[in-house]
Amino acid sequence: MLLLCTARIHPVFLLMLLLTACHSPSQDIVLTFSSSAVGAEAEVLQRQLARFMAAHQGIQVIQRVTPDAADQRRQLYVQWLNARAGEPDILQLDIIWTPEFAAAGWLLPLDSFAPPREAFFPMTIAANQWAGQLYALPWFVDVGMLYWRTDLLAGPPRTFDELMQLVTRARTDAALPFGFIWQGARYEGLVTVFLEYLGGFGGQIMDDRGRIVVDSPAAVRALTAMRDAIYRDGAVPPSVLTWQEEQVRFAFQNGQAVCMRNWPYAYRLLQDSAASLVAGKFSVALMPATADGSPTATLGGSQLAINAHTDHPQAAYQLIDYLTRPEQLVERARALGVYPPRPALYDGSLLAGVFPVPPDQVRHIIERAVPRPVTPVYAELSHILQIALHRALTRQQDPTAALADAARAMCALLERVDLSPQAGP
Ligand code: GLC
Repeated sequence: MLLLCTARIHPVFLLMLLLTACHSPSQDIVLTFSSSAVGAEAEVLQRQLARFMAAHQGIQVIQRVTPDAADQRRQLYVQWLNARAGEPDILQLDIIWTPEFAAAGWLLPLDSFAPPREAFFPMTIAANQWAGQLYALPWFVDVGMLYWRTDLLAGPPRTFDELMQLVTRARTDAALPFGFIWQGARYEGLVTVFLEYLGGFGGQIMDDRGRIVVDSPAAVRALTAMRDAIYRDGAVPPSVLTWQEEQVRFAFQNGQAVCMRNWPYAYRLLQDSAASLVAGKFSVALMPATADGSPTATLGGSQLAINAHTDHPQAAYQLIDYLTRPEQLVERARALGVYPPRPALYDGSLLAGVFPVPPDQVRHIIERAVPRPVTPVYAELSHILQIALHRALTRQQDPTAALADAARAMCALLERVDLSPQAGP
C-alpha cells in the first residue's frame, strides 16, 4: 500500500512516514531504575513513574528493586558498574557513594543538563560533586534523630547522662526489655550513630583540613559512652550490635524500648496503629550532647544519578528531573514522611503538618546536619572505622586503642591514594 503511493509523495514526507511507521511500542526507550521499593514507598514511586510515562510517550521505566541495607546495595552496584553494564540507567545512591562512583568513571556528569543545583540544600549538592562536576541530584534527605516515648518520659533527654538516667528509670518502671536502641551492627549505620555521639562530645572524623582526628580525646569519650551504655549502664542491649535500622524500628514499634535512634522514615510507620504498639506515644528530638559538643544529626539520604554507560542519557535525566521536582517531592513527603532536599519547600504551607516538627525546624536541623567525609575512598575509611568501633563495642579492644588503630589505618589509606579533586576524571 505504501509502495503504491510513493510516486506522488514528496521524499521528505515519505521519510517521515517511514519513521513513524517504524515506531512501535517495542522500540520505546526502556529505562531501568534501581531503587528500594517496599510498601508505601513502592506505591508512591509507581504512581510517579506512571505519570512520568504518561507525560513522556515513548519512554518506559522498569524498576530494579535492590536491597535496602546500605552496604549490600553498594556491593551490588559496584558489581554492575564495575562490569560496565549499561543498566540500570538510573541509580538511587546513598549520599556517601557519589564521589567514589564518580571518580571511578561510573556516573555521567549532570552539568550539561543544567540541573537547578541552587534549588537544593548546599550540603547535599556538595556531597554529590566530584572534581568540580555534579554527578547526582538529591532525592530525599535523612537526618539521624532520637525517638522517645511520650508516655514514659516527661521530655526528651538533653545530655547523654540524662538519657541514661531517664531511660534506666523508665525501663524499670514500665518493665521493658530495652532502654535505648540504635544501629550497632558492623555496617555503615554504626558509623552514622557514632558520628552523632562524636558530635555530641565535640569530636569529628576528619577536621576541616582533611586530617583524620577520629582518635581525639573527644572521640575516645564518645565511643566509651557508647560502650558504657551497654555494659555499665545496661540501658542499651548488647543485641544492638547485630541490628540495622529495621530491627531497631521493630523493637521500638513493638513497645520494647524507651528511646531509639533512627531516620525520619520510621515516623510514619510507627504512627500506623494497625502495626505499631507505640502509635501516638512517641515523639522525636535531636540526639543529646555534652557541654563540650552540640546535638548532632548525621546527614544521610538518597540521590539519583545516571549510569555512565547508559544508552539513554537524555531520557534518564528527564526522569531524574521529574522525580526531583517540587510536586513529586511533596507527594513523597506527605505519603512517607521523608524530607525533601529543596529548602524552598519548607517555606509556606506546603509541608504544614506533614512532619512531627514544624517545617522550619526540620529545615534548621537539615542545614546543621553533619556530613560524612566527602571522598572517593569513603567506603574504605568507613570500613576501617566500622571494624574499630565494633571491636570496642564488643569489648575486644578498649576505645583508645581501637580508635588509634583506626586513625593509623585511615591515615595510611589517605597517603596511599591521591585525593586531590583535580585527580578526578
Ligand atoms: C540511611 C541513610 C544513609 C546511611 C544509611 C546507613 O539509608 O540515608 O545515608 O548511609 O542509612 O545505614
